[in-house]
Amino acid sequence: MPGRASGARHQTGSNRFKRRVVRYGHFDDEGREYVITRPDTPLPWINYLGTEAYFGIISNTAGGYSFYRDARLRRLSRYRYNNAPLDMGGRYVYLRDDDSGEFWSPSWQPTQNELEDYSCRHGLGYSIICSTYKGIRGETTYFVPLGENLEVWRIRVTNERKTQALVSLFDSIEFCLWEAQEDSTNFQRNYSTGQVEVEDGVIYHKTEYRERRDHFAFFACSASLAGFDTQRDSFLGPYRGWDRPIVVEKGKATDSVAHGWQPMGCHHVKLELAPGETKEVIVLLGYQENPKNDKFDPPGSQTINKKRVKPIIARYLQPAAVEQAFTDLRDYWTRTLGILQVRTDNEHVDRMVNIWNAYQCMVTFNMSRSASLYESGIGRGMGFRDSNQDLLGFVHMVPARARERILDIAATQLPNGGAYHQYQPLTKRGNNDVGSGFNDDPAWLVLGVAAYLKETGDSPILDEPVPYDNATGTETPLYEHLQRAIQYTLDRLGPHGLPLIGRADWNDCLNLNCFSETPGESFQTTENKEGGVAESVFIGGLFVLAAQELAGLAKLRGDNAEANRSLAASEQMTDVVQKAGWDGAWFRRAYDYFGKVVGSRECAEGQIFIEPQGMCIMAGIGLENGMAQRSLASVRERLATPHGIVLNQPAYTYYHLELGEISTYPEGYKENAGIFCHTNPWLMIAEAMVGNGERALDYYLRINPSAREEISEIHRCEPYVYAQMIAGKDAPTPGEAKNSWLTGTAAWNFVAVSQWILGIRAAHDGLRIDPSLPAGWGGFSAMRRFRGARYNITVHKAPGSAGRVTRLTVDGRETPGNLIPLPTRPGQSFDVEAFIQ
Ligand code: BGC
Ligand code: NOJ
Repeated sequence: MPGRASGARHQTGSNRFKRRVVRYGHFDDEGREYVITRPDTPLPWINYLGTEAYFGIISNTAGGYSFYRDARLRRLSRYRYNNAPLDMGGRYVYLRDDDSGEFWSPSWQPTQNELEDYSCRHGLGYSIICSTYKGIRGETTYFVPLGENLEVWRIRVTNERKTQALVSLFDSIEFCLWEAQEDSTNFQRNYSTGQVEVEDGVIYHKTEYRERRDHFAFFACSASLAGFDTQRDSFLGPYRGWDRPIVVEKGKATDSVAHGWQPMGCHHVKLELAPGETKEVIVLLGYQENPKNDKFDPPGSQTINKKRVKPIIARYLQPAAVEQAFTDLRDYWTRTLGILQVRTDNEHVDRMVNIWNAYQCMVTFNMSRSASLYESGIGRGMGFRDSNQDLLGFVHMVPARARERILDIAATQLPNGGAYHQYQPLTKRGNNDVGSGFNDDPAWLVLGVAAYLKETGDSPILDEPVPYDNATGTETPLYEHLQRAIQYTLDRLGPHGLPLIGRADWNDCLNLNCFSETPGESFQTTENKEGGVAESVFIGGLFVLAAQELAGLAKLRGDNAEANRSLAASEQMTDVVQKAGWDGAWFRRAYDYFGKVVGSRECAEGQIFIEPQGMCIMAGIGLENGMAQRSLASVRERLATPHGIVLNQPAYTYYHLELGEISTYPEGYKENAGIFCHTNPWLMIAEAMVGNGERALDYYLRINPSAREEISEIHRCEPYVYAQMIAGKDAPTPGEAKNSWLTGTAAWNFVAVSQWILGIRAAHDGLRIDPSLPAGWGGFSAMRRFRGARYNITVHKAPGSAGRVTRLTVDGRETPGNLIPLPTRPGQSFDVEAFIQ
């Protein structure tokens, strides 16, 4: 961690909302943890386990589920969405005082006993839940070792009493019958298919293994067992829930073997604890595949072949192996986050940039939009647009995996340059059900690839042969995919010369060609009405930006013809946007099916939208003629609120058939005047670009989850990660967040604060140092690894001064402008000093 340059450390955000401070925990920045100290958080506050193939979500009370690669097709354990009480189904452990017969869960749920103390430490890829009840302390560390398809629950039970304690421990997991959608609907079949095996105390879940599946789950325990259960009904007892399983109440497992119904796993362990004594029990839940022709042992039998899995189980039931795996996981995150570390005047900036925002970007890389408390794991595939934007936030941490992601995405592109709106992670094929026609999609690929190249300099990627729609024989260099992406827009211009919107642009809910009157119909996929001319100013701005990026790539290749063509197209579109897209004080949003303007003072509702203000200015439109500044003033006057910038104003108060889903949401929620956090950083970037670091940081702090920690009662979602949406000023619950974790908000905020406010920005020809800071700040310091070199950066700024970098030195040598040239050989280290007068 670099040292700070100068200036006092501001505890900014100190009751900026003028509300009673309510917190449910605190940040431990040294330990890179958020420590929750009350189990009854306003909503379950979750974390993610796993980094490669085996994943899980885990709440602060041990709720959640696990899966292998695909949360729908290979789900290991059950979770009940939208349940009452909230957050049911998890990795529950029960302790029972065998003298008194009293039992409880150290994770509070599901028994909800009044615990003497409680904490849940959510860390990077692990969670530790700990509590004490009547002198017995129970602590469980949950994590997935790197490179393994299993999760560890390391349980430590301590007797803090003055006398000996006899304690029964029961772990529990309810198996999902693999396909999560079927599992929660097809009961006529499911109630008869469940199968398990129990061998040496290990519970193997093998539903459908007899037929087409070559994978099974295992649930193992390091202690010798007093018994086990694998049938849910035997464990819980008839008409009972997870809050008072009969087996736990009675203190005796029944050794049940599941045949159909609901297979589960439970190990019963008896612990004798002297005063002060701690005992450790390791529990493993894992996933294993066998080759199709080697599934059974002995061959011809129906018994699972366990020869591959047994050594893995044996290894991780050893405390030393678990300890080592935990250390390795922590080191992995130190390395991953170590690409950029900053030390500034603001603790909310530091902890989000250094820890949580970067971590959330990695989670969106792994999960896309599949599994959270708001994404059920059975719904959306990988979004074409989403994936390209997510990349902006993680490309510097995992460049090799970003490369692979880019090639996967590009391979789903259509020959006409268009894109499937989504693709499926397991097959990597475009999703036909959702189809294409979201006319902004292709342009995001250009932004994603450009960001990758700036970070890595890996220009050979542009020559990689990549197919269209995954069809063999159609391969062209990736570079041509980008050219076709740009051409796609040029081939679809409307009467004003603006890009046609298609089904929707970034705003999935602005469906200008849909005209849906049938309940339940999808606004995104329903057949569009023919013959319209709906155009998007937003795509106009996006196109200007993307065409500039393509020109940058073309120059790298010495393809001047393309560079000139793209720049000309970009200028031409800039012109169109300034004529047809300017409303006098802000950028318009669109023209509808009939050619009527959307997002204009002429409209009764929805006069101004955030998206075109952000995107057009990021593309550089209006920077020189005052339009940008005017647009930003309008955002400030009409859209900015203490909780963030709302999407549009005035909110739509009734259903506008010609606008689609946007007007289905009650005022202040989601795309109808909610604070759609994904778009806020565009305005931070725009403010930074025009040199208003003060306002850029102000907007940043309004939605920064750490800065909102003290209003947790209002915000309700986790204070360590961004949510997709915060309710806007028109909502009855302004400031209330929803849909945390899986959102493009993560990547864009990371870009805004690290690249534009702090101004450390990868470029094709070097590393740019271009901060745009508030006057009150001192300087800051940062460590950035880039293209194999290490840069120790100190920005010198006297509090009170504003403005941009006026002088730059690299290892003491004066360097013109604000660009540090590329390193000449790997392993170099540079001391960089930048001065703002
Ligand atoms: C949501 C959008 C989302 C879309 C995806 C809509 O209901 O409001 O945010 O992108 O569904 O299908
Ligand atoms: C969520 C989608 O994932 C994202 O792609 C979209 O831009 C926003 N919704 C806005 O509608």
